[in-house]
Amino acid sequence: MILPIYTYGQPILREETEPVKADSAELQQLIDDMIETMDNAQGVGLAAPQVGRRERLFVVDLSSSAEEIADAHGGVLPWWAEGPMALINPEIMSADDTSGIEFEEGCLSIPDIREFVVRPDRLRIRFLDRHFQPHEFDADDMLARVFQHELDHLHGVLFVDYLSPLRRRMLKRRLREMTHGHVEADYPVVPPGETQPV
Ligand code: NI
Repeated sequence: MILPIYTYGQPILREETEPVKADSAELQQLIDDMIETMDNAQGVGLAAPQVGRRERLFVVDLSSSAEEIADAHGGVLPWWAEGPMALINPEIMSADDTSGIEFEEGCLSIPDIREFVVRPDRLRIRFLDRHFQPHEFDADDMLARVFQHELDHLHGVLFVDYLSPLRRRMLKRRLREMTHGHVEADYPVVPPGETQPV
């Protein structure tokens, strides 16, 4: 089922999530729904708070960049880029702060705004997959980027928080309009002040 996406100004986007403690049919359904919602909106990542939930999990689908990712990995497509996957209770174990690179980011909760953000390009990450199997490995490039953006969502942080004071000032009006419920997207959304999709 496609879920409506909560947009900028919705309080839940600023709240802390709760670690997932156990598997359940409800959890598996949520993961399926989040993957369907992400793909419908042509996103590469979607975190639980973006669909109004507090579970500490996000989904990613890097298959649209499969060619680039395979090229960067000696012509072999890594398993995590083959299709959509869920990352439960994700954590960054360490980050190479000397590897910061600038990359243009967007967010399904902040439609039509894209801005450059600097983040480390190399990280050691840990998470459980949807079968609760643990994974820990070094991530770089697209996976490192999407992982950090989505992990931020699980702790109430949005990519616009990283912008320079100048860029923030330039976007201030558009962001304020969004907090007043003026938002347009080609997928179902729940703007601030609404409890139902519009
Ligand atoms: Ni986002």
